[in-house]
Amino acid sequence: MTERGRFVTFEGIDGAGKSSHIEWFADLLRKQGRKVSVTREPGGTELAEAIREWLLNRPMSMRTEALLAFAARQDHLERVIRPALDSGVWVICDRFTDSTVAYQGGGRGIPLTDIETLERWVHPDLQPDRSFLFDLDPVIAAERRRAARAADRFEAEQQAFFVRVRDAYLARAAGSGSRFRVIDSAKSIDDIRKILELDISSS
Ligand SMILES: Nc1ncnc2c1ncn2[C@@H]1O[C@H](COP(=O)(O)OP(=O)(O)OP(=O)(O)O)[C@@H](O)[C@H]1O
Ligand SMILES: [Mg+2]
Repeated sequence: MTERGRFVTFEGIDGAGKSSHIEWFADLLRKQGRKVSVTREPGGTELAEAIREWLLNRPMSMRTEALLAFAARQDHLERVIRPALDSGVWVICDRFTDSTVAYQGGGRGIPLTDIETLERWVHPDLQPDRSFLFDLDPVIAAERRRAARAADRFEAEQQAFFVRVRDAYLARAAGSGSRFRVIDSAKSIDDIRKILELDISSS
């Protein structure tokens, strides 16, 4: 029987450093002989990528945001994530449900119990095996973003929004047993890579 792949997610506020490490991390695993697939949320399928465009660029209520995030996630899980894990592929995903908890819950103000209801509906049986939370002061993240590119609907939010998102992430990490590894994203890219390498080789 094929050993199930592991599900690893990268989380953190906009500009915290997720994308700077994800392909490097996938290559590290490949060098260890694993089959690896890198994907992202919202997105990862044709339908979910179309939903992503709307989520990032069109005005909508916070409830619509949360429901669209989970609609995209349902499609992604059905077509990509579950089949890959079942066939022994490791799935490395840039954002997952912890992002909905942090952005639509913490940031926008949707009650956590409502998001947990959707979570239980869409993936009652599945959680990431490991979630790396790239934790960074929103002031530093905003400086990094300014240097990087034009802002989408979330990136254009005020500092106070990202303070709430960060706090919601940290609360979720504190309440999720050993699933999370919180990484101090103010460290250098090299130092962060050492932490990622150590974590994955010891688990
Ligand atoms: N440890 C670091 N030290 C200094 N700069 C960094 C570090 N990590 C990332 N950066 C820079 O910060 C910017 C944002 O990083 P990155 O795109 O990886 O963030 P992200 O978490 O993927 O953001 P988003 O959620 O918006 O996609 C990039 O320009 C990147 O080069
Ligand atoms: Mg990114």
